[in-house]
Amino acid sequence: MLEGVATHALKAPRAVRSAGAGLRLPHLAEVAATSPSVEWFEVHPENFLANPHARELLMKIAERYPIAVHTVGVSIGSVDGIDHAHLARVRELIEDLNPILVSGHLAWSTHQGVYLNDLLPLPYDDETLQLVSSHLHQVQDTLRRPYVVENPSSYVGFGTSTMTEVEFLGELARRTGCGLLCDVSNVFLSGHNMGYDPYRYIDAFPSGAVEELHLGGCAAEEDEATPDGTQVLIDTHGTTIAESVWHLYAHALRRFGATPTLIEWDNDIPDLGTLFSEVQRANTVAAETLTRTDTNPHVVAR
Ligand SMILES: [Fe+2]
Repeated sequence: MLEGVATHALKAPRAVRSAGAGLRLPHLAEVAATSPSVEWFEVHPENFLANPHARELLMKIAERYPIAVHTVGVSIGSVDGIDHAHLARVRELIEDLNPILVSGHLAWSTHQGVYLNDLLPLPYDDETLQLVSSHLHQVQDTLRRPYVVENPSSYVGFGTSTMTEVEFLGELARRTGCGLLCDVSNVFLSGHNMGYDPYRYIDAFPSGAVEELHLGGCAAEEDEATPDGTQVLIDTHGTTIAESVWHLYAHALRRFGATPTLIEWDNDIPDLGTLFSEVQRANTVAAETLTRTDTNPHVVAR
């Protein structure tokens, strides 16, 4: 189905270049009323499918800000296929919003009609590649636009995988024409949890397909599977971004160039001022990194 790529000629342009903020329900009314100074927002469409008041506020906000849509319920990795009823509801919202891009995760989160409140891992092999590619073609054909696929946060992997995650993502982009979202925090915590170098992961990431970056807070917890005191990093989106992740973000910017960056904060949601201070820091790191060639924070970070 490579020919399917040609039908997605209306690829969303990079309408924004600086950092934006995840817009969550507790902030909707304040943002609609006060129009704070931030370039763009990203929303989870699932928050608005059965909430008419929230949707009305979102439509007002969308008149003033570019909006990106980040799905959490479109499970492109499920063996029993895409939930087309859910996808149709997402499409209806997208057609009203006209977002700058639509993204989701390289994961599975539904099985036999049951929605699991988690993004679960996939084996990286040819069979999975065919399955996910087929689902991505369906999603892109239904939404009538390219989909942007995000690298997952990882805690376990499959011993049967025959390719690395970045090889899998690169081949997925080549076969389907999808874009890629590099979640830098996911790279950092997955590198810690899975035992790989996050800088090398960024170096190998298919940079030509990168449409967006994510940054979010993570938390260290005791790993019950290892009694030696090893800690596992959890993708909580519930705190400020770690210093090590900011250094990795600078490395990602040098690799990918200026790229729209989104601050994700989904738990223990703070006031807008705290959220926007993280957005401002992302803009500051980008301004310093993309104009400075004489220093290398990568070296400092390690
Ligand atoms: Fe993310």
